[in-house]
Amino acid sequence: MNRIESLLSKMTLAEKLGQMTMTASSYAVTGPVIAGDSTQAIKDGTIGNLLNMVGAQHVHDMQRLAVEESRLGIPLLIGLDVIHGHRTVFPIPLGEAALFDPKMWALTAQESAREAAADGLAMTFAPMLDVSRDPRWGRSAEGPGEDPWLGARIAEAKVHGYQGNDLAAPHTLSAVAKHYCAYGAVTAGREYASVDISERTVREVHLPAFEAAVAAGVAAVMPAFTDLAGVPMTANVALLRGWLRGKLGFRGVIVSDYHAIAELIHHGVAADLAHAATLALKAGVDIDMMADAYRRGLPEALSRGWVTMAEIDTAVRRVLTLKLRLGLFDDPYRRGARPEDPAAVSARRKLARVVGSRAIVMLKNGQGVLPLTKPGLRLAVIGPLADSSVDMRGPWWGASAPEGHVTVLEGFRQMLSDAHVAHAQGVSIDDDDTSGIAAALERCETADAIILCVGEAAAMSGEAASRAHLGLPGRQRAFADAVFERARSLGKPVVVVLFSGRPLVVPWLAEKSDALLAAWFPGSEAGNAIADVVLGHVSPSGRTPVSWPRAAGQVPIFFGQRPSGRPRDAADHYTSKYLDVANDPLFPFGFGLTFGRFKYSNLRVPAGGVAESDTIVVRVDVANEGRRAAEETVFLFTHDRVASVVRPVLELKGFGKISLEPGETGTVTMLLAAADLKFLGLDLEPVFEAGDVEILVGPCADRSQLLLAGIELAHPAPSGIKR
Ligand code: NOJ
Repeated sequence: MNRIESLLSKMTLAEKLGQMTMTASSYAVTGPVIAGDSTQAIKDGTIGNLLNMVGAQHVHDMQRLAVEESRLGIPLLIGLDVIHGHRTVFPIPLGEAALFDPKMWALTAQESAREAAADGLAMTFAPMLDVSRDPRWGRSAEGPGEDPWLGARIAEAKVHGYQGNDLAAPHTLSAVAKHYCAYGAVTAGREYASVDISERTVREVHLPAFEAAVAAGVAAVMPAFTDLAGVPMTANVALLRGWLRGKLGFRGVIVSDYHAIAELIHHGVAADLAHAATLALKAGVDIDMMADAYRRGLPEALSRGWVTMAEIDTAVRRVLTLKLRLGLFDDPYRRGARPEDPAAVSARRKLARVVGSRAIVMLKNGQGVLPLTKPGLRLAVIGPLADSSVDMRGPWWGASAPEGHVTVLEGFRQMLSDAHVAHAQGVSIDDDDTSGIAAALERCETADAIILCVGEAAAMSGEAASRAHLGLPGRQRAFADAVFERARSLGKPVVVVLFSGRPLVVPWLAEKSDALLAAWFPGSEAGNAIADVVLGHVSPSGRTPVSWPRAAGQVPIFFGQRPSGRPRDAADHYTSKYLDVANDPLFPFGFGLTFGRFKYSNLRVPAGGVAESDTIVVRVDVANEGRRAAEETVFLFTHDRVASVVRPVLELKGFGKISLEPGETGTVTMLLAAADLKFLGLDLEPVFEAGDVEILVGPCADRSQLLLAGIELAHPAPSGIKR
C-alpha cells in the first residue's frame, strides 16, 4: 500500500475532515496570530491547511505542531495570496499583461514563488484568470484583461513560473488557477453579483485561460464566489466535476474561495451547513477555505447518507497527493530553510523596476513632449499619488510593508536632485478639501514640466471594489483642471501619470494633458520605473490589455465583439450606435505609443489552401521612421467572415515584438497553428470550417490601423463546402 493509502486507512473521520479544511491565521504586521483554538486543532489533526501566514519561523512553528505533535504527523499546506509579488511587489496583473511578454510573465511568477517559498509558503492563490470586459469590476486589476487568448497565454506562463518543473523544489509554489469561472462577468460589474451569460461565451471567453492552466499542469483550482445562471460555482457539478475534472482531465485539488461553501446558504441552494457541504463535496471541492462547513457539516451529511466515505476519501487523497508532490512529507521545512541571498533580493528589485517601466502604457505624447531630456531639468511632481508609497503597491501586496515602495517623487529626486524637484499634494485622492491646490500651482511656476500624479487609491480596485463612476475620484478633476490652466498660462507641459486598477473614463484628461501615462499600480519600484520612462532611460513599450471607454455607458466594451446585422453607419439612423457617443473606445486594446514611429508593410501569408494540420507563417515588415530606438508589439488578429456561427470582428491569435533603431526596418514573423482557427460550431463542438479567413496585423485592435491579407482554409472533406 502506498503512503497515501496507508495514511488514509489510519485516519479518523475528524482527521480526514481536517485535511479538507483550510483556516486563516490573522496575519498582522506584528506577526501571525493563529485565531481561536487552531493550535490545538493542528495538534489534533483536525486542521490540515492554513492561509495567511507570513514568516518562515512562524510557518515552521506551525508545521512542527502538525508534523511532530499530531497523531499521524501529516504536514500542513500553507498558502497566501501572492498575486503580484510577495515582499517585492511587481505591477498589478492587469499592468503586467501590458508587457505582452510570456518570459517576463513567467519570470515575475518565478521570483514571487522564490520569495514566498523562502518565507515557508507552499501555495499561492494565483494566477487570477478572470477575463473582464467591465471596468466597473474592481477585480479587473487582478486579471489578464479582456481577451481570452491573452488570458490563456498568461495562464500558462504564470503556472510555469510559480510551479517550475518540479513542485517539490524548495523554491516553488503550487499555483491555484482562479476564479473558475466567469467571475469577471458579474452583472453590472458589481462584486459578488450573479453571472448570467451564454454557454458559448463561457466556453469561448471564460474557459480558455483555465484550459491553458490545466494543460500547463496547475496544481489547484479555486471556484468563483459567484453563481453562473443560477448554479453557484462552488456547487457547480457540471463545470467542476464535468468540465474541469471530466473533460479537461484535471487531477489536482479544488480549494473553495474564502467562506464560499457556507455562502451556498446565502445563494439559496443550501438550507444549512450540512447541505452546503454536501453540495460542494459532490461538485468536487476538496478543501473548504474558512467556512468550516466540512468539519461541521459533513459528519451529519454522512450519517444521513447524503455523502459517502468514499467521496470524502477521494478529496483527502487529492489533498495528500498535493502535499506529497510538494515534497512536504519528505521535508516539511525545506521551504524557508534558509534566508534568501541578498543578491537575489536586490536582483528581484531590479526586475520589479524593469517590469514596472515596461508595464507603463503611453496613451498620449503630444508633440513628442516625452522624454524630458533637457539638461538641468526642473520638475513639479504634484498630485495625491505623487508621494504615496502605500498606493504604489496596488490591491494585493502579499507580505510587503506599506512603506518602502519608491514613490514618483522619490524616483525623480533620486534621478535628478532634490533641489530640482518641487512637490505638493494639491488634493487628496477622494475627499473634498481643495485648500492645497494653490500651493501646488505655485510649485509649477519654477518647473520646466509638471508631472501630475492622479488616479485611484490602491484600495479602490481589487476585491469588493466595484465602482459605478469611472472618473477620477474626489476633487482631482478640479485640481487637474486648475493645473492645466496654470500650465497653459506658463507655457509648460503637463505629463499626467495615471494610477488605476482599471481603465478609467477620462477623455478630458487625454485631451488636456500633453502626455498621458497609464501606470496602473507599478509596485515596489514605481517611482523609478516611471522616471525611467519620463526621462527617456527606458523607451515605453506597454500596450493596454483592455479597451479604454469614452463613457461608462459603453461598458462592457471589448474588441472581440460580434458584428451587428446593422453595423454602425453614421448616415443611417437604424444602425448599431449610440446617439451621444461613438462606438469605439478612446484607446483600443493593444494601444500604446512608443518613442519610435512604426510603419507596417508587406504583410505575407501563405497562398493556397491551408489544412488543419498546417502552421501558417505570417510575416510583416516594420520600419521605425521615428527619431528614437523603440520596441514595437505587433498583433495578429483573424476574422472568419462567413462561418456557421457569427465570429467576432477580430480575434487575437498572436503577437510578436521587434526592437528597431531609428531608420531601421525589420521583419516580424508570427506562427499561427491552423488548428487555432477552429471555433465552437452550432453544437458547441470545435469545428474547422473551410473558407476565407482574414489575417489582420498591426499595432492594436483598431481595424483601420491593420494590414489585411486573406487565407483560405481547405476543408478536409472532398466536397470542400462549408456547413
Ligand atoms: C477571497 C478572494 O476571492 C480570493 O481570490 C482569495 O484567494 C481568498 N479571498 C483568500 O484570500
